[in-house]
Amino acid sequence: MSSVQAVVAPFTPSSVTSAKDSWSPASWRDRPALQLPTYPDSAALSAAQEELRSLPPLVTSREILALKQQLAEAQEGKRFLLQGGDCAETFAECNSEVITNRLKVLLQMSLVLVHGLKVPVVRVGRFAGQYAKPRSADSETRDGVTLPSYRGDIVNGPDFTAQARVPDPRRMIKAHARSAMTMNFVRSLIDGGFADLHHPEYWGLGWVGQSPHAAEYQNMVAGIGDAVRFMETLAGRKMQSLSRVNFYTSHEALLLPYEEAQTRRVPRADGWFNLSTHFPWIGMRTAALDGAHIEYFRGISNPVAVKVGPSVTPDQLLRVIDVLNPHDEPGRLGLIHRMGAEHIATKLPTLLDAVKREGRRVLWICDAMHGNTESTSNGYKTRRFENIRGEIEQAFDIHEAAGTRLGGVHLEMTGENVTECLGGARDLTELDLQRAYRTTVDPRLNYEQALEIAMLIVKKRGAIAA
Ligand code: PEP
Ligand code: CO
Repeated sequence: MSSVQAVVAPFTPSSVTSAKDSWSPASWRDRPALQLPTYPDSAALSAAQEELRSLPPLVTSREILALKQQLAEAQEGKRFLLQGGDCAETFAECNSEVITNRLKVLLQMSLVLVHGLKVPVVRVGRFAGQYAKPRSADSETRDGVTLPSYRGDIVNGPDFTAQARVPDPRRMIKAHARSAMTMNFVRSLIDGGFADLHHPEYWGLGWVGQSPHAAEYQNMVAGIGDAVRFMETLAGRKMQSLSRVNFYTSHEALLLPYEEAQTRRVPRADGWFNLSTHFPWIGMRTAALDGAHIEYFRGISNPVAVKVGPSVTPDQLLRVIDVLNPHDEPGRLGLIHRMGAEHIATKLPTLLDAVKREGRRVLWICDAMHGNTESTSNGYKTRRFENIRGEIEQAFDIHEAAGTRLGGVHLEMTGENVTECLGGARDLTELDLQRAYRTTVDPRLNYEQALEIAMLIVKKRGAIAA
């Protein structure tokens, strides 16, 4: 996933302006669309879309607008965004353990961030819809046999057989159902008190005790427990607001036939909403200005984000901002930079300067994963903890020097005890990768590495503020 393509096509102002009034959930169909599968049976595709249109939405416009407000506050430094989860969800891993563990690690990280940064954290999962993947090639050849690439469970199956690799539109219905099950379970856990600050022990993962960060984390939890009890004694009542946290969802809105079928008007708000997720983003490979994905995104009222890779120029970025947020609406647009530890210092500053000079309102988010993917000599796709850490630390410094604000981070991680990224407090080596390498696409931070990243964000921010 780390190959860089020239993604932004030449800008043609007239085509963008004249098409403005004629936006519809399907107007992307008139634009070049990258990374979409070719469905062999177009009648089956239309039937699946029709069925999706009739199914209940996964989220509401009210929640979407509440998140937009929170992202607007993150732009002003009053909140910090934590966006994370799997590179790709799979149908097989839509189960209680994986969902609960992912929620636990996100809650623990957010607790570390709230405690250290002293601002509320906006929690956004990469889940309940993260089923479509961009690929660097349309097909894959093994032993002389060429088949379509695996594009995520919403499109086709990962097995290297002709049958599994045929894009099947019925998979969109299954993805919708699995997303609904995921949402339902997350909502029930949270409503049932799972995220209650009075009981952070609920989020303990079995092996937290052995973590090199256990003591630091447990001290913090104990400190928070004391503070909560102290406030409640003063107030003379239990603080209900500490019993619940909000969780929002996001995914790469890559598969436009799916997104289109989930795009609706609602009774008491203006505009069109993508009701399959709160906060969709455009991947780096599909961010062409005249492409189908930008066309689709410009017409929806959700907060949206775009990945920004090292090949994007300041001019191109300003044009993308013009199209996606022409009225400079607060909370509307996130820019997720993913340069890599090696390139961030040379590539990011000019982009920050340009956006600042034009006075554009955006939420800057650092994805410290996708610019740092590499292959080991024993054939694993991995990422080095030191590079992930390096990219985040540099990002804070570069924003500080530019007079802009890093408002959040975007991470690939899991609550499972996997060995996919090298390094971290336990210093995982290339040999360790064989032990528990389970990702179907990109290597994820495991629980300990994710918690360590949260701790180092706090230390870095603290050092800058001092
Ligand atoms: C991803 O977020 O999984 C991804 C493919 O990222 P990018 O578009 O930045 O390469
Ligand atoms: Co990924």
